[in-house]
Amino acid sequence: MAVIENSKLAIVGAGAVGTSLAYAALLRGTAREVSLYDINREKVNAEILDLAHGTAFTGASRIRGGSDLDVVNGANVVVITAGAKQHPGQSRLDLAGDNVEILRNLMPALVERAPEAVFMLVTNPCDVLTVAAQRFGELPPNRVLSSGTVLDTSRLRWLIAERAGVATSSVHAMIVGEHGDSEFALWSQARIGPIPIGEWPVADGVPFARPELDRIADDVVHAAYRVIAGKGATNYAIGVSGARIVEAILRDEHAILPVSSILDGYRGVSGVALSVPTVVDSSGVSEVLEVPFDEEESERFRASAVVVRRTIESLGL
Ligand code: 2OP
Repeated sequence: MAVIENSKLAIVGAGAVGTSLAYAALLRGTAREVSLYDINREKVNAEILDLAHGTAFTGASRIRGGSDLDVVNGANVVVITAGAKQHPGQSRLDLAGDNVEILRNLMPALVERAPEAVFMLVTNPCDVLTVAAQRFGELPPNRVLSSGTVLDTSRLRWLIAERAGVATSSVHAMIVGEHGDSEFALWSQARIGPIPIGEWPVADGVPFARPELDRIADDVVHAAYRVIAGKGATNYAIGVSGARIVEAILRDEHAILPVSSILDGYRGVSGVALSVPTVVDSSGVSEVLEVPFDEEESERFRASAVVVRRTIESLGL
C-alpha cells in the first residue's frame, strides 16, 4: 500500500459532526479534496460556502460537495456522520434501529460510487453500524472501521495530563471496547512517558491510586452525556479525532489507533466490532494488535462484546 496522492475525503452528513470533521480536515490538510454530502441542499451548500470562504488560510485543500450523492464519486475515504443523533437521556445504543435503516439503502449507493474507498462510521452506535455497513456494502472487513474509542482515548489522555501536569502527547493510555457505556481503560498498559501510570507521583510523591484512576475512567464514559446536556451535541473533538484517523489512512501511516473494526477471533470475539489497538494504513485496518489484558480487563472486554452483540442480534443483522 502507499500514500494516496490527490486524495479525496467524502463526508456524508453536514450536521454538527460532519461539518466539524470537514473543518478539522481543512485546517489540518488531511486530504487534497474534502467533499461534503447532505440530503438537505440548502444546508449543505451553505456549509460548503462557509468552509470555502476560509480556505485562503487553510492550505491547499479544496472543499466541494452538494446534495447529489455523486459528490462521493471516487473518494478514497468515505466518512459517515449522517443519522439520528443522541438526545439527553438517550444512550448511543438507542439510536441503532433508526441508523441501521439509513445505512441499508445508503451503503450500496456509496460503494457503487467509491468502490475502492475505506469507509469510516462515525454515526452512533458506531460499533453496531460498522457491522451493518460491512454487510450492506458487502465490503471486505478491513475496509470498514469506525472512529470507535479514538475520541474517548483523547478524553482520557487529556484528563490524565491535566492531573499529572504533563503534555497530553506524553500520556500513553487507551480506552477500548464499545464506544459507549461498557468501554473501559486499559490501565494495565497505561504509561506517562516511560513510567507505569500506577507509579506516577501525583501529590507529595504519592502515586496515582486506583480509585482516582477509576474516577477518571468514569468521567470519560460520561463525558459525552455532559456535553450533550449542555449544548445538544458533541462535535469539535469528534471532528478532529475523525480527521486524524483519515490522515492515518490517506498517508499510509501504520499508526496505532483504537479504532473499531469487526473482530475475528480476537480474545474469543468474532463478528462484533469493538475498539482495540489497531494498525491503520491505506488499506484501512492493517492489523489488530494482541496486547496483554489483565484478568479484569479480559472480563470487561467480553462484557462489552456481549452488549454490542445483543444489539446486533436484536436488529436481525
Ligand atoms: C461522543 O462520544 C456522542 O459518541 C459521541 O462524543
